[in-house]
Amino acid sequence: MSTTNPPSADTQNLQQALLEALIRSDHRISPVWFYDHRGSALFEDITQLPSYYPTRTEISILDDNLEAIAKAIGSNRLVVELGSGSSRKTVPLLKALDQPAGYVPVDISADYLHQAADDLSQQLPGLPVIPLVADFTTPFALPPSLPDHNNRLGFFPGSTIGNLAAPEAQSLLKHCHTVLGDDAAFLIGVDLDKSPEVLIPAYDDPEGVTAEFNRNLLVRINRELGLDIDVQAFAHEARYLTNPARIEMHLVATTDQTINVDGQNHTLAAGESFHTETSHKYTIEGFAQLAQQAGWQLTQHWCDAQNRFAVLLLKAAENQ
Ligand code: AVJ
Repeated sequence: MSTTNPPSADTQNLQQALLEALIRSDHRISPVWFYDHRGSALFEDITQLPSYYPTRTEISILDDNLEAIAKAIGSNRLVVELGSGSSRKTVPLLKALDQPAGYVPVDISADYLHQAADDLSQQLPGLPVIPLVADFTTPFALPPSLPDHNNRLGFFPGSTIGNLAAPEAQSLLKHCHTVLGDDAAFLIGVDLDKSPEVLIPAYDDPEGVTAEFNRNLLVRINRELGLDIDVQAFAHEARYLTNPARIEMHLVATTDQTINVDGQNHTLAAGESFHTETSHKYTIEGFAQLAQQAGWQLTQHWCDAQNRFAVLLLKAAENQ
């Protein structure tokens, strides 16, 4: 980093996140920091791995049930997608829906969002596309100019909700209810709990791509914060835990590490780890209960033959 340029807001936030992780006893850092340019490319590679089943399973659930899903969703919906990285899922859905009123992709990355919105417009000429730059993990507002105020569909594929612990997942769902309105529906992809023999290789693949994805966080930290953390001294680990069922990804220090941030030394003893991601695994009933507490009623769901992944259709519950 050049000393003549002030550090960007992002750089400051990353430094803040690293400092907090070093100070906290669980050394947690948010998975949002994975997705720099290299991290996003590595995630794309992960979705192609034989052992990483979620992406292809969700796509095939959507493909196999498109007509039934579109029928259950109903006509004239304005589709609001949380994230915009899934045109492989969005385009078929929008094509299958009866007279969608428009498409609002919501993403924190303006560049990525406008690129994705342009691509989608080309594939679906005539459909109004209104991209919204916002961080959907914190309360956001829809542009006031939107049509069909009371007939909206939230779309949140990819089991991204799994990155949130139950209280945060519930506040996100509650907020979506508020933003989408009382007649809203919500189509959400959720990864299901299953044997660690399937889950662990999905997050610790023999090709080593997920390990590289995990370690890239340290590569990014070194580059953006001008540090020299010994990336190779950290081992990638995927752990399956229960209550609640989840995969945790860690970067385990194999020898004692000293990390100097802003003139202060912080240590990670051998065996201690950065906890870089939690990916919650649900049962249909468990997720339905969580959604219900956030104002959503499960109406229908679709799974693959092996019950690995589920696509759930929620409807805004009547206000009590
Ligand atoms: C994008 C959060 C759904 O938890 O499976 C993949 C991210 N991390 N491999 C997931 C991820 C490691 C992924 N989500």
